[in-house]
Amino acid sequence: MLFFGKKIEPIGLDIGSTYIKLVQLKGSDRHYQLVKYGMVPLPPEVIVEGAVMDSGRVVEAIKELLAKHKVKTKEAVISVSGSAVIIKRIAVTDMTDEELAESIKWEAEQYIPFSIDDVNIDFQKLGPGAMEGQADVLLVAVKKEKINDYVNIAKEAGLEPVVVDVDAFALENMYETNYDMGAGTVALLNIGASVMNINILKDGLSAFTRDITVGGNRYTDALQKDFGMTSEDAERVKRGEIVEGSDQEQIAGVVASVTEDIVAEVQRSFEFFRSTTGSDKVDQVLVSGGCTRVGNFTQVLSERLGMSVEIANPFQNIKVDAKKFGAALLETGAMAAVAVGLAVRRQGDR
Ligand SMILES: Nc1ncnc2c1ncn2[C@@H]1O[C@H](COP(=O)(O)OP(=O)(O)OP(=O)(O)O)[C@@H](O)[C@H]1O
Ligand SMILES: [Mg+2]
Repeated sequence: MLFFGKKIEPIGLDIGSTYIKLVQLKGSDRHYQLVKYGMVPLPPEVIVEGAVMDSGRVVEAIKELLAKHKVKTKEAVISVSGSAVIIKRIAVTDMTDEELAESIKWEAEQYIPFSIDDVNIDFQKLGPGAMEGQADVLLVAVKKEKINDYVNIAKEAGLEPVVVDVDAFALENMYETNYDMGAGTVALLNIGASVMNINILKDGLSAFTRDITVGGNRYTDALQKDFGMTSEDAERVKRGEIVEGSDQEQIAGVVASVTEDIVAEVQRSFEFFRSTTGSDKVDQVLVSGGCTRVGNFTQVLSERLGMSVEIANPFQNIKVDAKKFGAALLETGAMAAVAVGLAVRRQGDR
């Protein structure tokens, strides 16, 4: 039982491999105000390819973040992403939600590369299917092990995880909160350190979702490999700093070729989207995540795709005290897209 009149506004906690992000919002339904905002870095070997190698360090980092920003709220919305998450649009025999809840497990089996007992399954009816008597359903399967890892970390940090979301859907909620959903096709991209989340919305509904294990780590890996740099130096170079004894021209060449690789992945996914859904081209691209801060990444993405690419502003439609948060948001705001999408969720949501 909730305390009378008290509405819980959980924190959105995006546990990324490079930064843990915290966002708390007051309000509801596209009328939000920013209450808490913060980030804490994680060393490179703590979360690798989405797998938590050192949960103790993650717990410590979360505690540090909560203490620094004097967060009193225990309720938290967290998320998972990457290869442990399967999102698919499938066609099933039309039935009621209750019937579907019973049978989805059997339906799902053929679409999931893991044992059905190892995943948590959720679904959402999208509408009538292409064939008579069928329904289109969005199937979401997440490895239990992954959920348990992240839930346990949140609990050990003293939090109560009330919703476990998926990055790609958080991105969609960030979009709905800040942008006007019109007709047309909008691709939401969030390119972090190890994972790129793609969610393509058609006339306001998710038509294609995919996580690809590609991100900013590609730059650091290539710089370390090609120049024998330490990971610290590679990270500095990626951020545009000059490291003594390094050849600027060669470095620029490596950075440029990694950018081309990442952009090519985006192109491949867009082509796959077009060929599998029979849709027209993507009209608009909104990109977020740390990769947007690498040199001319966004510009190259726009040139190769042949369309305008905008860096997302996850706070565009959120009331912000500029004195308190302005500087931080300007610097790191584009990396908070998932955290904002988590912070708009409320307990009891599905
Ligand atoms: N100023 C900057 N210049 C260049 N790259 C940056 C800058 N700041 C952060 N990055 C890079 O952005 C990435 C982190 O972005 P983000 O916070 O979106 O990822 P994450 O959520 O921690 O990772 P993931 O979700 O993939 O586990 C890292 O690869 C980091 O090196
Ligand atoms: Mg991330």
